[in-house]
Amino acid sequence: MKRIAILTSGGDAPGMNTALRAATLVAADRGIQVVGIERGYEGLLEGKDRPLTRRTAAGGLAPTFEVDTSASLGGSILGSARCKAFYEAEGRAHGAKALERFDGLIVIGGNGSLTGAQALADEHGVRVIGIPASIDNDLGCTASAIGVDTALNTIVEACDRISDTARAHRRAFVVEVMGRESGYLCMAAAVAAGGDAALFREDGRDEDALVEVLAATVARGFEADRGKQRVLVLKAEGVDVPCTRLVRRAQERLEKTLPGVEIRATVLGHLVRGGSPSFLDRMIASRFALAAVTALEAGATNEMVAWQAPLSGGIATVDRSVTRWPLGQVLAETKALLDGTSPVIKARLALMKAAAGVLAL
Ligand code: F6P
Repeated sequence: MKRIAILTSGGDAPGMNTALRAATLVAADRGIQVVGIERGYEGLLEGKDRPLTRRTAAGGLAPTFEVDTSASLGGSILGSARCKAFYEAEGRAHGAKALERFDGLIVIGGNGSLTGAQALADEHGVRVIGIPASIDNDLGCTASAIGVDTALNTIVEACDRISDTARAHRRAFVVEVMGRESGYLCMAAAVAAGGDAALFREDGRDEDALVEVLAATVARGFEADRGKQRVLVLKAEGVDVPCTRLVRRAQERLEKTLPGVEIRATVLGHLVRGGSPSFLDRMIASRFALAAVTALEAGATNEMVAWQAPLSGGIATVDRSVTRWPLGQVLAETKALLDGTSPVIKARLALMKAAAGVLAL
């Protein structure tokens, strides 16, 4: 192998730059040149790329200054995009043609990006390995994706800050967090930030039931003899009712029993996606990159590297915490996570049910 391409695609995630740096270093150490494709599959179709390795005076390969200095930055130095043309066979054929000058491709991204990677391998025989990166943690066959830990740290910090002001005014807050259709960030943050309840799509509650939970949580939290100074409810983006409406309806319901109670709403939005990657994201990203370059070198294709011990299946790597999984299996499990048929979702729901009373104490 002489030259590989690498791209970041879909919603950016903190740790993408760490993965770019680590993949470039691992490849350079093995005499492989790395070329970065700009703005995901868009840049591939537009022919926009730049080398991430340079020749040293001694004739070896080293990462460019840009790659070397960006590992601790959020976002992606290559840029990222969701490419509509790649949903069409013609767009993918064009992309495969552009990849002919490379011996392999590493795709760093989420569900849509890995679907594109699988199509490149299946339809055109492109040698491709995926690295999971998405704050949503909605990908199958991996316990975590790049960006999840940083996003959770950001949410917990934001909740701590909101709790300060909430306690000062004895208020209740609903904090909405990103995650698209996945409630993982909401559930995990509710536990870690000391939330009183978590509202997420996978629960299947309708609007009336959500208002009921919110009102009951606030009423219980502010019972006269409890001395509680704040109520914090985490809401997932995937819950299809705006925070403001939930708050207004819960407030109306509490008017008689808890007059004067104030419930406020904060939507964290894209704030959660930025920032410097945490230690865990940097470590996971670096180890994924090692496994991805090694897999390409070994002739593997149509796979994703995963944060999952070999005990649960997958192809073992030199790293005991990283396994490789066929992209077909990853995408099937991702679909099952979304439609709720995955055992992982069932286990998450059971855990949250078991924790519901504890959270509200
Ligand atoms: O998939 C990552 C994510 O941040 C989701 O949590 C969110 O729903 C979506 O991307 C937002 O996308 P955009 O940045 O295009 O608004």
